[in-house]
Amino acid sequence: MRVAVIGAGTMGSGIAQACAVAGHDVTLLDTSEGALGRAQAGMKSSLERLVRRERLSESDAAAALARVSPQTEFLGLESAEVVIEAVFESSEVKREVWERLGKVVSDTALLATNTSSLSVTEIAAYSGREARFCGMHFFNPVPVMALVEVVRGLRSSEAAVAEAKAFVEGIGKTPIVCQDKPGFIVNRLLVPYINDAMHALSEGVASAAEIDEAMKLGANMPIGPLALADLVGLDVCLAAGQALHEEFGDPKFRPAPLLKQMVRAGKLGRKSGEGFYEYE
Ligand SMILES: NC(=O)c1ccc[n+]([C@@H]2O[C@H](COP(=O)([O-])OP(=O)(O)OC[C@H]3O[C@@H](n4cnc5c(N)ncnc54)[C@H](O)[C@@H]3O)[C@@H](O)[C@H]2O)c1
Repeated sequence: MRVAVIGAGTMGSGIAQACAVAGHDVTLLDTSEGALGRAQAGMKSSLERLVRRERLSESDAAAALARVSPQTEFLGLESAEVVIEAVFESSEVKREVWERLGKVVSDTALLATNTSSLSVTEIAAYSGREARFCGMHFFNPVPVMALVEVVRGLRSSEAAVAEAKAFVEGIGKTPIVCQDKPGFIVNRLLVPYINDAMHALSEGVASAAEIDEAMKLGANMPIGPLALADLVGLDVCLAAGQALHEEFGDPKFRPAPLLKQMVRAGKLGRKSGEGFYEYE
Protein backbone atom coordinates (compact mmCIF):
# COMPACT_ATOMS: atom_id res chain seq x y z
CA MET A 1 0.00 0.00 0.00
CA ARG A 2 0.99 3.64 -0.25
CA VAL A 3 1.29 5.05 3.26
CA ALA A 4 1.95 8.66 4.25
CA VAL A 5 3.37 9.30 7.72
CA ILE A 6 3.16 12.94 8.78
CA GLY A 7 5.77 13.92 11.39
CA ALA A 8 9.19 12.24 11.45
CA GLY A 9 9.99 12.44 15.15
CA THR A 10 10.37 9.58 17.63
CA MET A 11 7.04 8.01 16.69
CA GLY A 12 6.73 8.94 13.01
CA SER A 13 10.11 7.44 12.17
CA GLY A 14 9.26 4.22 14.05
CA ILE A 15 5.87 3.97 12.32
CA ALA A 16 7.46 4.61 8.90
CA GLN A 17 10.02 1.88 9.58
CA ALA A 18 7.38 -0.67 10.68
CA CYS A 19 5.29 0.06 7.56
CA ALA A 20 8.32 -0.17 5.24
CA VAL A 21 9.50 -3.47 6.75
CA ALA A 22 5.98 -4.83 6.09
CA GLY A 23 6.42 -3.92 2.39
CA HIS A 24 4.46 -0.66 2.15
CA ASP A 25 5.77 2.35 0.22
CA VAL A 26 6.08 5.19 2.72
CA THR A 27 6.13 8.94 2.24
CA LEU A 28 7.61 10.40 5.43
CA LEU A 29 6.70 14.07 5.67
CA ASP A 30 8.12 16.58 8.14
CA THR A 31 8.47 20.34 7.85
CA SER A 32 11.92 20.06 9.44
CA GLU A 33 14.84 18.86 7.26
CA GLY A 34 16.74 18.11 10.47
CA ALA A 35 13.98 15.82 11.76
CA LEU A 36 13.98 13.91 8.44
CA GLY A 37 17.76 13.48 8.62
CA ARG A 38 17.56 12.19 12.20
CA ALA A 39 14.67 9.89 11.24
CA GLN A 40 16.68 8.33 8.41
CA ALA A 41 19.73 7.83 10.62
CA GLY A 42 17.50 6.38 13.38
CA MET A 43 15.75 3.96 11.01
CA LYS A 44 19.09 2.85 9.58
CA SER A 45 20.58 2.02 12.97
CA SER A 46 17.36 0.36 14.17
CA LEU A 47 17.28 -1.83 11.04
CA GLU A 48 20.97 -2.70 11.47
CA ARG A 49 20.17 -3.84 15.03
CA LEU A 50 17.41 -6.10 13.70
CA VAL A 51 19.88 -7.57 11.18
CA ARG A 52 22.47 -8.21 13.94
CA ARG A 53 19.76 -10.00 15.95
CA GLU A 54 18.93 -12.07 12.86
CA ARG A 55 15.33 -10.83 12.79
CA LEU A 56 15.74 -9.33 9.32
CA SER A 57 18.05 -10.11 6.40
CA GLU A 58 20.51 -7.45 5.22
CA SER A 59 18.76 -7.17 1.86
CA ASP A 60 15.28 -6.82 3.44
CA ALA A 61 16.61 -4.06 5.72
CA ALA A 62 18.10 -2.20 2.76
CA ALA A 63 14.87 -2.63 0.76
CA ALA A 64 12.80 -1.32 3.69
CA LEU A 65 14.96 1.78 4.01
CA ALA A 66 14.70 2.39 0.25
CA ARG A 67 10.87 2.23 0.49
CA VAL A 68 10.79 5.34 2.72
CA SER A 69 10.75 8.63 0.79
CA PRO A 70 11.35 11.70 2.97
CA GLN A 71 9.85 15.03 1.96
CA THR A 72 9.21 18.47 3.46
CA GLU A 73 6.28 19.56 1.27
CA PHE A 74 2.63 18.49 1.43
CA LEU A 75 2.80 17.14 -2.13
CA GLY A 76 1.66 13.91 -3.79
CA LEU A 77 -0.52 12.90 -0.84
CA GLU A 78 -3.63 12.32 -2.97
CA SER A 79 -2.34 8.83 -3.84
CA ALA A 80 -1.88 7.74 -0.20
CA GLU A 81 -4.17 4.89 0.86
CA VAL A 82 -3.34 5.26 4.54
CA VAL A 83 -2.32 8.50 6.27
CA ILE A 84 -0.91 8.33 9.81
CA GLU A 85 -0.22 11.60 11.60
CA ALA A 86 2.42 11.82 14.35
CA VAL A 87 3.18 15.55 14.63
CA PHE A 88 3.62 17.45 17.92
CA GLU A 89 1.04 16.72 20.62
CA SER A 90 -0.67 20.08 20.17
CA SER A 91 -4.28 20.72 19.14
CA GLU A 92 -3.23 23.77 17.12
CA VAL A 93 -0.52 21.93 15.18
CA LYS A 94 -2.78 18.93 14.55
CA ARG A 95 -5.62 21.23 13.45
CA GLU A 96 -3.40 22.98 10.92
CA VAL A 97 -2.07 19.68 9.57
CA TRP A 98 -5.47 17.96 9.31
CA GLU A 99 -7.25 20.95 7.77
CA ARG A 100 -4.58 20.83 5.10
CA LEU A 101 -4.63 17.05 4.66
CA GLY A 102 -8.45 16.94 4.56
CA LYS A 103 -8.37 19.02 1.36
CA VAL A 104 -5.90 16.82 -0.54
CA VAL A 105 -6.22 13.17 0.53
CA SER A 106 -8.45 10.80 -1.43
CA ASP A 107 -12.01 10.08 -0.25
CA THR A 108 -11.15 6.42 0.22
CA ALA A 109 -7.96 6.92 2.23
CA LEU A 110 -7.87 5.62 5.80
CA LEU A 111 -6.90 8.48 8.11
CA ALA A 112 -5.35 8.09 11.56
CA THR A 113 -3.76 10.11 14.34
CA ASN A 114 -1.19 8.75 16.80
CA THR A 115 -2.24 11.17 19.56
CA SER A 116 -1.74 9.93 23.12
CA SER A 117 -3.88 12.39 25.01
CA LEU A 118 -5.98 14.53 22.66
CA SER A 119 -9.51 13.67 21.52
CA VAL A 120 -9.53 11.57 18.33
CA THR A 121 -13.09 12.77 17.68
CA GLU A 122 -11.91 16.39 17.75
CA ILE A 123 -8.90 15.77 15.48
CA ALA A 124 -11.17 13.84 13.08
CA ALA A 125 -13.39 16.93 12.83
CA TYR A 126 -10.39 19.03 11.71
CA SER A 127 -9.98 16.69 8.71
CA GLY A 128 -13.64 16.97 7.70
CA ARG A 129 -13.49 13.18 7.02
CA GLU A 130 -14.74 11.83 10.32
CA ALA A 131 -16.12 8.54 8.98
CA ARG A 132 -12.73 7.57 7.47
CA PHE A 133 -10.83 8.59 10.61
CA CYS A 134 -9.68 6.74 13.74
CA GLY A 135 -6.82 6.71 16.24
CA MET A 136 -3.83 4.39 15.77
CA HIS A 137 -1.93 4.72 19.02
CA PHE A 138 1.51 3.13 18.64
CA PHE A 139 3.90 2.63 21.57
CA ASN A 140 7.51 3.66 21.90
CA PRO A 141 9.82 2.20 20.59
CA VAL A 142 7.57 1.26 17.67
CA PRO A 143 9.79 -1.50 16.18
CA VAL A 144 9.73 -3.32 19.54
CA MET A 145 6.26 -2.73 21.00
CA ALA A 146 3.52 -5.11 19.86
CA LEU A 147 0.40 -3.12 20.74
CA VAL A 148 -1.50 -0.53 18.70
CA GLU A 149 -4.67 0.85 20.29
CA VAL A 150 -7.18 1.42 17.47
CA VAL A 151 -9.35 4.24 18.75
CA ARG A 152 -12.93 4.57 17.60
CA GLY A 153 -13.89 8.25 17.34
CA LEU A 154 -17.53 9.19 17.81
CA ARG A 155 -18.02 9.37 14.04
CA SER A 156 -15.55 6.66 12.92
CA SER A 157 -17.24 4.20 10.57
CA GLU A 158 -17.16 0.46 11.24
CA ALA A 159 -15.36 0.07 7.90
CA ALA A 160 -12.57 2.46 8.94
CA VAL A 161 -12.08 0.66 12.27
CA ALA A 162 -12.01 -2.72 10.51
CA GLU A 163 -9.49 -1.42 7.94
CA ALA A 164 -7.31 0.02 10.71
CA LYS A 165 -7.30 -3.32 12.53
CA ALA A 166 -6.36 -5.18 9.36
CA PHE A 167 -3.64 -2.65 8.55
CA VAL A 168 -2.12 -2.93 12.06
CA GLU A 169 -2.15 -6.75 11.83
CA GLY A 170 -0.53 -6.49 8.41
CA ILE A 171 2.48 -4.71 9.87
CA GLY A 172 2.87 -7.43 12.48
CA LYS A 173 1.33 -5.62 15.45
CA THR A 174 -1.64 -6.47 17.64
CA PRO A 175 -4.60 -4.06 17.45
CA ILE A 176 -6.92 -3.58 20.40
CA VAL A 177 -9.98 -1.47 19.63
CA CYS A 178 -11.15 1.00 22.26
CA GLN A 179 -13.43 4.00 22.57
CA ASP A 180 -12.20 7.58 22.40
CA LYS A 181 -11.91 8.19 26.17
CA PRO A 182 -8.94 10.02 27.71
CA GLY A 183 -5.86 7.81 28.06
CA PHE A 184 -7.54 5.05 25.99
CA ILE A 185 -6.67 1.80 27.83
CA VAL A 186 -2.97 1.77 28.61
CA ASN A 187 -2.36 5.35 29.74
CA ARG A 188 -5.61 5.49 31.68
CA LEU A 189 -4.29 2.66 33.86
CA LEU A 190 -0.55 3.35 33.70
CA VAL A 191 -0.50 7.10 34.43
CA PRO A 192 -2.37 6.86 37.78
CA TYR A 193 -0.22 3.85 38.75
CA ILE A 194 3.00 5.81 38.21
CA ASN A 195 1.46 8.84 39.93
CA ASP A 196 0.50 6.76 42.98
CA ALA A 197 4.08 5.54 43.30
CA MET A 198 5.10 9.22 43.56
CA HIS A 199 2.46 9.86 46.27
CA ALA A 200 3.80 6.81 48.16
CA LEU A 201 7.37 8.11 47.87
CA SER A 202 6.30 11.58 49.14
CA GLU A 203 4.52 10.00 52.08
CA GLY A 204 7.71 8.18 53.02
CA VAL A 205 6.27 4.70 52.51
CA ALA A 206 9.67 3.54 51.23
CA SER A 207 12.58 4.80 49.09
CA ALA A 208 12.33 5.01 45.28
CA ALA A 209 14.55 1.94 44.91
CA GLU A 210 12.46 0.00 47.44
CA ILE A 211 9.14 0.92 45.77
CA ASP A 212 10.49 -0.14 42.37
CA GLU A 213 12.01 -3.38 43.71
CA ALA A 214 8.76 -4.21 45.54
CA MET A 215 6.70 -3.89 42.34
CA LYS A 216 9.22 -6.00 40.40
CA LEU A 217 9.36 -8.79 42.97
CA GLY A 218 5.81 -8.65 44.29
CA ALA A 219 3.82 -7.85 41.14
CA ASN A 220 6.17 -9.24 38.49
CA MET A 221 6.52 -5.85 36.78
CA PRO A 222 9.52 -5.80 34.40
CA ILE A 223 10.45 -2.31 35.63
CA GLY A 224 9.45 -0.32 38.73
CA PRO A 225 7.01 2.63 38.38
CA LEU A 226 9.55 5.32 39.26
CA ALA A 227 12.24 3.97 36.93
CA LEU A 228 9.52 3.83 34.26
CA ALA A 229 8.59 7.47 34.94
CA ASP A 230 12.26 8.42 34.43
CA LEU A 231 12.25 6.50 31.13
CA VAL A 232 9.04 8.10 29.85
CA GLY A 233 10.10 11.60 30.97
CA LEU A 234 8.59 13.33 34.00
CA ASP A 235 7.31 16.23 31.85
CA VAL A 236 5.44 13.71 29.67
CA CYS A 237 4.03 11.98 32.81
CA LEU A 238 2.86 15.36 34.13
CA ALA A 239 1.22 16.39 30.84
CA ALA A 240 -0.56 13.02 30.64
CA GLY A 241 -1.74 13.27 34.27
CA GLN A 242 -2.97 16.83 33.76
CA ALA A 243 -4.86 15.84 30.61
CA LEU A 244 -6.62 12.94 32.39
CA HIS A 245 -7.39 15.14 35.42
CA GLU A 246 -8.82 17.91 33.25
CA GLU A 247 -10.92 15.62 31.05
CA PHE A 248 -12.39 13.41 33.80
CA GLY A 249 -12.42 16.05 36.56
CA ASP A 250 -11.78 13.17 38.96
CA PRO A 251 -9.32 13.85 41.84
CA LYS A 252 -7.88 10.36 41.47
CA PHE A 253 -5.95 11.67 38.45
CA ARG A 254 -4.49 14.71 40.32
CA PRO A 255 -0.76 14.85 39.49
CA ALA A 256 1.44 14.28 42.57
CA PRO A 257 2.87 17.59 43.92
CA LEU A 258 6.31 15.92 43.92
CA LEU A 259 6.01 15.33 40.16
CA LYS A 260 5.18 19.00 39.54
CA GLN A 261 8.12 20.12 41.69
CA MET A 262 10.57 17.82 39.93
CA VAL A 263 9.48 19.08 36.50
CA ARG A 264 9.83 22.70 37.69
CA ALA A 265 13.35 21.84 38.88
CA GLY A 266 14.24 20.43 35.45
CA LYS A 267 14.48 16.87 36.79
CA LEU A 268 12.88 15.17 33.81
CA GLY A 269 14.31 11.66 34.19
CA ARG A 270 16.77 9.98 31.84
CA LYS A 271 16.69 12.73 29.22
CA SER A 272 17.91 15.39 31.71
CA GLY A 273 20.29 13.02 33.52
CA GLU A 274 18.29 13.13 36.75
CA GLY A 275 14.83 12.08 37.91
CA PHE A 276 14.10 9.58 40.67
CA TYR A 277 17.56 8.21 39.83
CA GLU A 278 20.74 9.73 38.42
CA TYR A 279 22.04 8.84 34.95
CA GLU A 280 25.41 9.19 33.28
N1 LIG B 1 6.93 9.72 22.31
C1 LIG B 1 6.11 8.78 22.73
O1 LIG B 1 6.46 7.96 23.58
C2 LIG B 1 4.72 8.66 22.13
C3 LIG B 1 4.01 7.44 22.28
C4 LIG B 1 2.77 7.32 21.67
C5 LIG B 1 2.20 8.38 20.97
N2 LIG B 1 2.89 9.56 20.88
C6 LIG B 1 2.26 10.64 20.10
O2 LIG B 1 2.88 10.70 18.82
C7 LIG B 1 2.89 12.05 18.33
C8 LIG B 1 4.31 12.46 18.01
O3 LIG B 1 5.10 12.31 19.16
P1 LIG B 1 6.70 12.22 19.09
O4 LIG B 1 7.15 11.82 20.44
O5 LIG B 1 7.10 11.44 17.89
O6 LIG B 1 7.05 13.78 18.85
P2 LIG B 1 8.39 14.42 18.25
O7 LIG B 1 8.47 15.78 18.84
O8 LIG B 1 9.53 13.49 18.40
O9 LIG B 1 8.06 14.53 16.68
C9 LIG B 1 7.07 15.38 16.14
C10 LIG B 1 7.49 15.77 14.73
O10 LIG B 1 6.43 16.49 14.11
C11 LIG B 1 7.03 17.43 13.24
N3 LIG B 1 6.06 18.46 12.91
C12 LIG B 1 5.63 19.48 13.69
N4 LIG B 1 4.74 20.24 13.02
C13 LIG B 1 4.60 19.69 11.78
C14 LIG B 1 3.83 20.01 10.63
N5 LIG B 1 3.01 21.06 10.62
N6 LIG B 1 3.94 19.22 9.54
C15 LIG B 1 4.76 18.15 9.54
N7 LIG B 1 5.53 17.80 10.61
C16 LIG B 1 5.44 18.56 11.70
C17 LIG B 1 8.22 17.94 14.01
O11 LIG B 1 9.18 18.56 13.17
C18 LIG B 1 8.73 16.66 14.68
O12 LIG B 1 9.75 16.05 13.91
C19 LIG B 1 2.21 12.89 19.42
O13 LIG B 1 0.85 13.03 19.10
C20 LIG B 1 2.40 12.04 20.67
O14 LIG B 1 1.43 12.27 21.65
C21 LIG B 1 4.14 9.72 21.42
